[in-house]
Amino acid sequence: MIDAAKKNLAVLRARGVEGPLDAAIVLGTGLGDMAARMSEAVSISYGELQGFPAPTVSGHAGRLVVGRCGGRRVAFLQGRGHYYENGDPRAMAGALETLALLGCGALVLTAASGSLRADLGPGALMLVADHINLNGLNPLIGVHSEDRFVNMLDAYDPGLRAQMRAAALRLRLPLPEGVYMWFSGPSFETPAEVRMAGILGADAVGMSVVPEVILARRLGLRICAVSLITNHAAGYAGGAPTHDQTKAIAGTGASALATLLDAFLEGLP
Ligand code: HPA
Repeated sequence: MIDAAKKNLAVLRARGVEGPLDAAIVLGTGLGDMAARMSEAVSISYGELQGFPAPTVSGHAGRLVVGRCGGRRVAFLQGRGHYYENGDPRAMAGALETLALLGCGALVLTAASGSLRADLGPGALMLVADHINLNGLNPLIGVHSEDRFVNMLDAYDPGLRAQMRAAALRLRLPLPEGVYMWFSGPSFETPAEVRMAGILGADAVGMSVVPEVILARRLGLRICAVSLITNHAAGYAGGAPTHDQTKAIAGTGASALATLLDAFLEGLP
């Protein structure tokens, strides 16, 4: 994979893209349009890069866009690979290895999720403070080196979280922190699973983020994740999620998230 990442750096260099970047931002379902806010943008299709996912999900364009945003050098990843697409928890490994090799001060993950909190309705944003993974899956299974024993304490970087909270405060945008629980998908959770998630301490449920955090942690990247709540989780407060709803709410909630990300980038030291 590292060979693939090196080849990708050569492809990027040929397009005028050199590291290091201030931040890379993975855009989740329905959030891809955010990359349009960039200046001096260079857009490269995932198909031109080795080990990048070929998105199969509507709402995921499959492009790496590098340029300037909020006065910083930033890469947007328009679309991600999910475990549920091909049963591969390493779907984002190649992309993350390329970013790590390029050099990237912060990795910001965005993702839609379903809420288990009354104060987090559709359109709200939640800063991920920690996660729960009880899928029995881990992207580092099969990695045979000592660095597979990745420390998950403070996986969601306290410094970046403080900067994200400060950005939200400047905008007077509510940004409560919560625990994200990973479900494999692609079916949504049952109401009983959602009740279980709540008992275990989850504030939101979703189908991504966690494998990327584990992979990125191993690569030494500093991580921050913001989830856009698109619905109440199944059975919670009448929640009955659909993918169409996810895309529709992500589309309308994207502007608040874009404003937050701009302020976060501007506030980076
Ligand atoms: N569950 C899992 N993933 C999601 C949800 C949900 O309710 N909403 C958006 N992504």
